Amino acid sequence: MTSGSPPRYSLSTKREGWRPADGDRSQTMKRVLVVHFSQTGQLARIVSRLIAPLAGEVELVEEVLRPRAAYPFPWPLLRFFDTMPESVLLDPPALEPVGAEGNFDLVILAYQVWFLSPSGPITAFLKSDEGKRLVRGRAVVTVIACRNMWLNAQETVKRLIQEAGGELRDNVVFTDRAPTLATLITTPLWLLTGKRGGFFGLPPAGIADADIAGAERFGHALVQALRGDRERNGAPMLAGLGAARVDPRLIFSERAGKRAFGAWSRIIRLGGAPGSWLRLPLVVLFCLYLVAMILAVVPASLLLQRLLRPLLARRLESQKTYFEAPSGP
Ligand SMILES: Cc1cc2nc3c(=O)[nH]c(=O)nc-3n(C[C@H](O)[C@H](O)[C@H](O)COP(=O)(O)O)c2cc1C
Repeated sequence: MTSGSPPRYSLSTKREGWRPADGDRSQTMKRVLVVHFSQTGQLARIVSRLIAPLAGEVELVEEVLRPRAAYPFPWPLLRFFDTMPESVLLDPPALEPVGAEGNFDLVILAYQVWFLSPSGPITAFLKSDEGKRLVRGRAVVTVIACRNMWLNAQETVKRLIQEAGGELRDNVVFTDRAPTLATLITTPLWLLTGKRGGFFGLPPAGIADADIAGAERFGHALVQALRGDRERNGAPMLAGLGAARVDPRLIFSERAGKRAFGAWSRIIRLGGAPGSWLRLPLVVLFCLYLVAMILAVVPASLLLQRLLRPLLARRLESQKTYFEAPSGP
């Protein structure tokens, strides 16, 4: 099973009715690997609700990714922005060794988004030899929990899964349901102060408790799929459950942000490695740029899109369908 550090576990089933005629049932039980990392515990809570129905049904191995140098939380302001270039350029942190061993029938890969990219630890996992070995030839379900901009990150994760030889079968997304402009204030305040709510009468930052509790429906659907060997047949296992809903208004903002972050990443890296003094002025400039973007460009883009909606409707609808695949709304 696993070696190394907690919290990984494996659970054996006692459920009747799925037992082979004879022999040790644990030897024929399906094996599911769950990989995740969480700073505030938000994604960990979602994962724990989602996999709860699998306990007792499969052999479940949980792998919590541990960066060798821990990320701070709450984040100091400049450290937060200094993380952008390495996140965007997929230059991930070193991880403590991953202990999961053997082959799995299904891999659940849960991650958060950092600067429109997968967070450093999940990129590190997918680019590592160990991560590639675990994903190769396996059905993979991704689970995302972020503010609300995940499209570009998922395109990257799709590519990394494909490069590792895995097969993405489903994608489940949890986002902050508050209005975008509110989350652009509450999320950074949460990450920089550690406090989720109470800012200027705005709704608390993060995923609503009801949405987290609702993650169980995906676990139940996975149990049904595994019982029917459907993890082997190439089709989504979580369709029709509201797994991924795309807000078409954010598609353009993501595209513009991705381009800008790519350019800024290269500029900031001219100043050296993360934390180096030469990088600092460039990180400050990026920070000011981002604030200006949020104050000026995001509201302008939302307004422009509202005015142009009739002209853009067709294109946005097809993009929405593309990004909501494979599991759908
Ligand atoms: C450095 C950093 C950058 C982030 N960038 C984004 C982003 O581009 N889009 C987004 O929707 N959320 C973003 N978030 C929010 C995270 O995706 C996530 O919701 C939050 O960090 C809580 O996750 P966790 O406590 O489970 O780690 C960012 C968070 C951090 C720490």
